[in-house]
Amino acid sequence: MASKRITTSPYPDQKPGTSGLRKKVPVFRQPNYVENFVQAILDSIPEREGGTLVIGGDGRFFNREVAQIAIKMAAANGIGRVLVGRDGLLSTPAASCVIRKHGALGGIVLSASHNPGGPEGDFGIKFNGANGGPAPESVTDAIFARTTAIAEYRIADAPDIDLGTTGTTEVDGMSVEVIDSVADYAELMRSLFDFEALQRMFAAGFRMRFDALSAVTGPYAKAILEDTLGAAPGTVVNGEPKPDFGGHHPDPNPVHAHALFDLMHAPDAPDFGAASDGDGDRNMIVAPGLFVTPSDSLAILAAHAHRAPGYAGGLAGVARSMPTSRAADRVAAKLGIEAFETPTGWKFFGNLLDAGRITLCGEESAGTGSNHVREKDGLWAVLLWLNILAVTGQPAQDLVRAHWADFGRDYYTRHDYEEIDAGAAKQLMERLRAKVPSLPGTTLGGLTVAAADDFRYVDPVDGSVTEAQGVRITFAEDARIVYRLSGTGTAGATLRVYLERYESDPARLEQPVAEVLAPIVALARDLAEIEALTGRAEPSVVT
Ligand code: G1P
Ligand code: ZN
Repeated sequence: MASKRITTSPYPDQKPGTSGLRKKVPVFRQPNYVENFVQAILDSIPEREGGTLVIGGDGRFFNREVAQIAIKMAAANGIGRVLVGRDGLLSTPAASCVIRKHGALGGIVLSASHNPGGPEGDFGIKFNGANGGPAPESVTDAIFARTTAIAEYRIADAPDIDLGTTGTTEVDGMSVEVIDSVADYAELMRSLFDFEALQRMFAAGFRMRFDALSAVTGPYAKAILEDTLGAAPGTVVNGEPKPDFGGHHPDPNPVHAHALFDLMHAPDAPDFGAASDGDGDRNMIVAPGLFVTPSDSLAILAAHAHRAPGYAGGLAGVARSMPTSRAADRVAAKLGIEAFETPTGWKFFGNLLDAGRITLCGEESAGTGSNHVREKDGLWAVLLWLNILAVTGQPAQDLVRAHWADFGRDYYTRHDYEEIDAGAAKQLMERLRAKVPSLPGTTLGGLTVAAADDFRYVDPVDGSVTEAQGVRITFAEDARIVYRLSGTGTAGATLRVYLERYESDPARLEQPVAEVLAPIVALARDLAEIEALTGRAEPSVVT
């Protein structure tokens, strides 16, 4: 096996987050850049000798090349067996599933999630541990420290392997199995959901559209929805994963998945619409004429999960990220189960899932999941919805309205101010934090502040503390404003403002969202002096 020396570190200032290292493709294509990071990952795996490593990604530009590099480096670093998805493809939840099922040491997942791909687009590499979940901060910190310290990497001097055909080969004595990207995941889905009931529903004429946005979930959705459950051919659109996602911005929200959104609001809309993101962990759910917010979706799934075989025993508890609306808490209260509020980011659900404290969890950013893997899972959420619809026999839009009638409605919107000046963003948050202590009891724009703080999380499982996770202001009138800065952007800073108001009056459940929230939006802008500090009068994205 050959070793190469690294003369300069390509990581002067880059600390990878738990969603891995995300950069533009040209950055990753610098000499030694990928190799440095992969070596640092491999060095951070204890007792890797002879163990199994999973490799796969969302199919974006550069995916295949990096998969080949990672295979050869695994061989030169003592890994015993690599499982790689055919064509280098594995959705993020499927990678989590494969890691868990095959007792792997972990997996290298090649993805920049919902960010656009292509030669000038984004790329990413992340490491998931043996539980199938994103490596915790202690591990990502160790990886980062290693990237700045290593002087060489090890890579097998071997030809590329054929990723296009399933089967087993060897690289320098290490076994490489090219696996069907879908099979293990599909089997897991079959164990959770009543596939016969779903087959009957589709056979009876249930129509849906799944928009894979030319990203990784196409093959999964086709195999499960069309080939197994009998959904009509053509149910899955944009089903071929493309290196540039066919020009799509593969983020499933009403803005980027507008074709699906428009179809579901047209007179001949199918019974159900869904979309997934670049790497398949996010989901969007649209009923005919009615977009289901991710916060509502989590609450509705929690209320009805017991209807699916995998959750027939009920839920241990539910968790939501702090900015996610409080709809799921209302369901938990009624079910008499624990509800947790965690900082933004899937990793915070890991301990609660591993400890068996929660069964379902979700984020307002279109991530929903359960204890079946350790990632959010887009297609899983779609299948749970379908299972619930099949059992209740209720149209999706009726199910949502019935939920509001039972629990009240959490009107919700998120305003993003993207690529603002990083210094201005920091200043804005600092000024807000300084105001927080004086807010409770004051009246702003006709609303009375009941509580205000900068969210601090104490992990109920290991007691670890995470500070400064976002400023939240709760009003006596059952409204809330949350401010935080994005941790995933690749240019400047992104300010996210989350706005919500609860309504339980049966006569007021069908108001236009923008109208209900307008006073809170105005108040949020004033309070944070958004325009004065960032120069932006309007958000760049409203979801
Ligand atoms: C965003 C979402 C967050 C999600 C993360 C990774 O992070 O808001 O919920 O976990 O992407 O998919 P942010 O950019 O807000 O830090
Ligand atoms: Zn994603």
